[in-house]
Amino acid sequence: MGGDMGQVQGKVALVTGAASGIGAACAETLAREGARVVLTDLDDPRGEAVAARIRERGGEALYLHQDVTEEARWAEVVAETERRFGGLHILVSNAGIGIIGMTVEMSLADWRRQMAVNVDGVFLSVKHAIPAMRRSGGGSVILMSSVAGLRGSAGLAGYSATKGAVRLFAKSVALECAMARDGIRVNSVHPGVIETPIWEKLPAGQGGGRNAPIDARALAAAGVPLGVPGQAQDIADGVLFLASDASRHMTGAELVIDGGMTAGRVGNLAAVRQA
Ligand SMILES: NC(=O)c1ccc[n+]([C@@H]2O[C@H](COP(=O)([O-])OP(=O)(O)OC[C@H]3O[C@@H](n4cnc5c(N)ncnc54)[C@H](O)[C@@H]3O)[C@@H](O)[C@H]2O)c1
Repeated sequence: MGGDMGQVQGKVALVTGAASGIGAACAETLAREGARVVLTDLDDPRGEAVAARIRERGGEALYLHQDVTEEARWAEVVAETERRFGGLHILVSNAGIGIIGMTVEMSLADWRRQMAVNVDGVFLSVKHAIPAMRRSGGGSVILMSSVAGLRGSAGLAGYSATKGAVRLFAKSVALECAMARDGIRVNSVHPGVIETPIWEKLPAGQGGGRNAPIDARALAAAGVPLGVPGQAQDIADGVLFLASDASRHMTGAELVIDGGMTAGRVGNLAAVRQA
């Protein structure tokens, strides 16, 4: 850090869900590449710790408490970002939750909570960040979707509904910005199985009400062609590309970082040969 040729040198970035996993890696990577970063989350101790780590390494970072589902707070967070850092160029709308369960067993409250964080939160982020980005002369909006936003998955119907919504929301906002000639690009990112704390928070064991963590490595061994889960840094590297001018001709696109999950299955031919 502190070099003068970072890939996002001089830009101001806002990352939601930045206290953990993918969001923390995005904030640290953007800071390393020269951006001044505002990190927001519900988890203040972890969020402050990530911001402190960035500052220890010579970067500029500010942590703010934020529930992405609350509109009034969005106006404050964007205003504080402009006040502290003089503008806004990069939005990484990353905060999200996953609730597992068969649809017939899912409560309406769980469905709504997941929609509120994953969809309302993304809508509010875009609604409030874009005017600030226009005042700054343009920028890049990156919305965290999922492989679950590209294909279905039993037990994840509600989550898939939210991530599919994010995917097409990104494309539509990309077109609105293109129409406005405002210099803002909007893209979605689609991680596969990434080893982050989210897997320890997913309520598993459908119908049983157990709270068993899911082992991302076992899941990846069974369902990811490359055989291993991705790391948060693998997603942050893609986000950095979308945030930087290296992706200046990309808007309304999907960046899939999934170890081959959406390409198809491996091993079928070998199984047939053995039979
Ligand atoms: N880990 C994966 O395998 C994976 C795969 C595909 C997509 N994703 C998506 O990537 C994003 C980040 O996931 P992660 O794996 O880093 O999860 P994580 O649980 O490690 O981090 C998510 C962060 O979001 C915060 N958050 C939750 N609700 C919030 C709210 N209402 N307001 C503000 N912050 C809130 C949490 O406190 C947490 O710090 C999510 O949108 C997730 O759906 C993750």
